[in-house]
Amino acid sequence: MPAAQPSMTAFALRPRLSAMAAMSAVGLGLLIAPAGIATADPAKSTTTSTSSRQAPDSLFPEVGSSRYNVKHYAIKLSYQTSGEIKAKTTVIAKTKKPLKSFSLDLEGLTVDAVKVNGDRADFSRRDNKLIIKSSKVLDGRFSVTIKYHGKPVTHIDPDGAKDGWIPTADGGVVVLSEPVGAMTWFPNNNTPRDKATFDMKITVPAKLEAAGSGDLRSVRKHDGLETWRWVQPKQQATYLAMIAIDNFDVYRSTMTTTTGRKLPIWSFIEPELGTQATARALIPKAIRYMERRFGAYPFNSAGIVVKDSDVDYALETQNRPVFDIDEGETVRELTNVHEWAHQWYGNSVTLSDWGDIWLNEGFATYAEWLWTASHGGQSTAERLQTEYDANPADDELWSPAPADFSNPADLFGSQGYLRGAMTLEVLQQEVGSRDFFVILRRWAQDNEYGNVSTREFIALSERVSGEDLDALFQAWLFTVGKPALS
Ligand code: TRP
Ligand code: ZN
Repeated sequence: MPAAQPSMTAFALRPRLSAMAAMSAVGLGLLIAPAGIATADPAKSTTTSTSSRQAPDSLFPEVGSSRYNVKHYAIKLSYQTSGEIKAKTTVIAKTKKPLKSFSLDLEGLTVDAVKVNGDRADFSRRDNKLIIKSSKVLDGRFSVTIKYHGKPVTHIDPDGAKDGWIPTADGGVVVLSEPVGAMTWFPNNNTPRDKATFDMKITVPAKLEAAGSGDLRSVRKHDGLETWRWVQPKQQATYLAMIAIDNFDVYRSTMTTTTGRKLPIWSFIEPELGTQATARALIPKAIRYMERRFGAYPFNSAGIVVKDSDVDYALETQNRPVFDIDEGETVRELTNVHEWAHQWYGNSVTLSDWGDIWLNEGFATYAEWLWTASHGGQSTAERLQTEYDANPADDELWSPAPADFSNPADLFGSQGYLRGAMTLEVLQQEVGSRDFFVILRRWAQDNEYGNVSTREFIALSERVSGEDLDALFQAWLFTVGKPALS
């Protein structure tokens, strides 16, 4: 890879969205914050206890509930070429304190019936909340089944990006739900801090294929239809649950991990986009490359989905990232590498609050730097210096501080991606390569399938290195402005 290749993280790749993000930061900023407060979970007032509540998400306070933990989602969804769906989602959850009423996030769609522990339950809709009243007090494990139908809506993010259920020009659909789009296709506790296992049965007309996150368990033909069953046995955040429906070419192979594990690879490529052979061949290479640096691949299968969806971003959906390209294009190598790095940092080790997005994007961008350095490009030290010199003090890169966002439109800005990656290189130079890679590996290992915060990353870095790193992180993550570089 030529060292001259420009930085191409998602924000750099998509100038149009960056521009929109900047626009909405100015134009819509005032509308966003009050909406979050106005839509706060109305079910909360009817709880039997309120003391177990956590602080809501710092950037998306309107989504998620802290009053129960979801264990499992079972989603049965049937898709018609008209764009309509008929679906049934069963949520297995556990209360934190006894409760009679609770809410799930759901935007659009028509709810036909709700059952709690098998009994009919009353429900109402308000903003993007489905509020359910159980006839009995729920204490401990409970199940709720929601039958619903309709034409799902696409959620538009504060930065103007499409999120959630996204119909494509060719009559297909792709679901990309970072940060909050999951609520457009199934009712859920739409916060990354409530991860769960998944079982999705997606029924489509037999001429179509249904890709998904997780492991392909079966494909069943019946009455001109096909049901694709995708099982996710590992914890998965709702924003990383994916389905993509199209007339795909399906590619099957297997790979061997560095620990000798055999992984099935299922990839789904829109036929108009060719075979994407290079992008598919990168999968085992990228996974083994990262295993050597970050530790064992956390999931049981792999693959990619390549589809012209016009969303203008790629997403690290679990096991199976999705790439949006136009006809005649190929998936960019570094974008591909970036999405694989997220399987460790983002998908297995997941942020608890969207304000910690640099823990996703800084790490995945840093993985691009490592890959570049290993393939004949700039070293990570050179890269830090290049980026430092290329971004003057008045550049937006230096404001807001990466771990101190207050505007949700900043979520995919250069601060989290580039300044986040720069922070990691500054850390490496401070603690030395040996300790640095111990930190990266332990971060992945100790928090495998879990949730994390910036505070915990700083604590781990200090534990491993034995150094006081407060000033370093304060300057690079929490302070507006261009830090000094020694
Ligand atoms: N997390 C994605 C990545 O880095 C990027 C992404 C998701 C994104 N949604 C977005 C970028 C919306 C811009 C706008 O791969
Ligand atoms: Zn990313």
